[in-house]
Amino acid sequence: MTGFFGGGGVCTHCRCRAMVPLKRRRKDGGAAPIAGVQERAPVNRFPGVEIFLLERRMGSSRRAFLTQLARRKGFRVQDTLGDSVTHLVSESNSGDEVWEWLDRQTGGQTPGSLSLLDISWFTDSMETGRPVEILDRHRLQVSAPRSDPEEPRISAYACQRRTPLDHLNKIFTDALEVLAENAEFSESEGRGLAFRKAGSVLRSLPFAVSRMEDLRGVPCLGEHSRKIIQEILEDGVSGEVEGVLRSERYRAMKALTGVFGVGVKTADRWAREGLRTPGDLLTSGHRLSREQEAGVRYYEDLNCPVTRAEADAIGEIVEEAVHSILPGARVTLMGGFRRGKEAGHDVDLLITHPEEGKEEGLLGKLTSWLDSQGVLLYQRVSEGSGGRGRESGPMDHFHRSFSILKLGEQPGAQPGASSADQTQEAAAPRGQGGAQGRGWRAVRVDLVICPYSQYAYALLGWTGSQQFERDLRRFASQERDMSLNSHGLYQREQNRYLPAASEEEIFTHLGLEFIPPPQRNA
Ligand code: CTP
Ligand code: MN
Ligand code: MN
Repeated sequence: MTGFFGGGGVCTHCRCRAMVPLKRRRKDGGAAPIAGVQERAPVNRFPGVEIFLLERRMGSSRRAFLTQLARRKGFRVQDTLGDSVTHLVSESNSGDEVWEWLDRQTGGQTPGSLSLLDISWFTDSMETGRPVEILDRHRLQVSAPRSDPEEPRISAYACQRRTPLDHLNKIFTDALEVLAENAEFSESEGRGLAFRKAGSVLRSLPFAVSRMEDLRGVPCLGEHSRKIIQEILEDGVSGEVEGVLRSERYRAMKALTGVFGVGVKTADRWAREGLRTPGDLLTSGHRLSREQEAGVRYYEDLNCPVTRAEADAIGEIVEEAVHSILPGARVTLMGGFRRGKEAGHDVDLLITHPEEGKEEGLLGKLTSWLDSQGVLLYQRVSEGSGGRGRESGPMDHFHRSFSILKLGEQPGAQPGASSADQTQEAAAPRGQGGAQGRGWRAVRVDLVICPYSQYAYALLGWTGSQQFERDLRRFASQERDMSLNSHGLYQREQNRYLPAASEEEIFTHLGLEFIPPPQRNA
């Protein structure tokens, strides 16, 4: 026996007679051995057998101990799960759990040749001093056969999935959305993203999840998200989510970030000061930015979903204005409404002209025109830099206006008519900007101007959903060595931009099947 066997207690985890090296006995007083740290170069006495020990539930110190033990006996133990691994050994995990873990690691590409084994195979082999034959009792039991290899796998990229607006797993996605928001409220972007990815993949499933086994082979589901799903399957609700919804902090952050112009950082500062509602902002005497002032003034209107009819009416107002300034210009509705949504938080409009260059200077003229008609309640203009901004990440450099427009009661009502009165402040006192009875309402509108040559990219980039866009860019970068944003697609190796006249062409450049907007609700 080696030194490891002396002095420790009998291993309580399994039937192996190995002794557990107890941390407190370490003379150097250092931390537990790190998995994979070996004292001597390992000899591989058993070619064709490469072991990987799953740390989940086993724990890192026990894993390190077992790794050392096997290596001393001439077994090859890999620290990471690579293609060469033949024997995956786990402890206290079910076969289903291990499959789920593997699917997450490999994106569903787990090789069929890998043996999933219980610790009993490992201990039998250690006792025997060589890899023992794999018996049925050594194998982890998987509750149902693995999905047919012919069956198409679910991609880990939202841009390779079809995600309709109406899906079957709303009870789970609503819960995950709350957790995502809550994580973002504490600036845990990574955790927020994990919940968003989980929600996104559930939206794409063509069936309602009714048991955990339904999720086998489904990527993008982290342990936490699975736990929430399981809770909901068992109890109908998730205690954690209910707790978040009840928490004062979540409610305050939700209300404060609901003010146009207020981000997480500002809302957090105010929430810590005890502010709870937009009304508190007015009485607190805080200095508000121009944007935040508009946000408070039109709070109720801006938090009342924009209907499709209202979006169309805004589209008509803008189109009429654009045509009177620049005949031949085109106005396209993008964002959620282009994906088929019946309601949204704003109206996203893309404006271009088939003769490249004609669109220059259009935004200023357009907003002046809207202002002269009494339709422009607020705007913040973002100057276009003209460049393609491929280093700038997802943000684009178009000339655009984040605005609040005034919409008459009748969808399609003429701007400049009696509805566009100049007494909106009297009609809608600060902080109580309800539309009832005053004949108009405030609507958030994003106006984006783009050169015609970038129209397809701008349209694709602004149609969303955000999760779909994120994965399109990730796919381009990781799978194609290309860089995508709302201006173009850049091929890194060839050092060139790929022109595209339609969204379909962009999907073709990326080697992706075309996904129409109503299927991009990831
Ligand atoms: N977008 C962008 N740059 C911004 C804001 C938005 O590129 N500064 C893109 C995002 O990719 C997003 C799309 O424009 O997917 C629409 O954004 P937004 O209006 O925020 O979301 P919608 O999907 O339209 O949802 P909603 O109906 O709530 O407006
Ligand atoms: Mn939108
Ligand atoms: Mn928008």
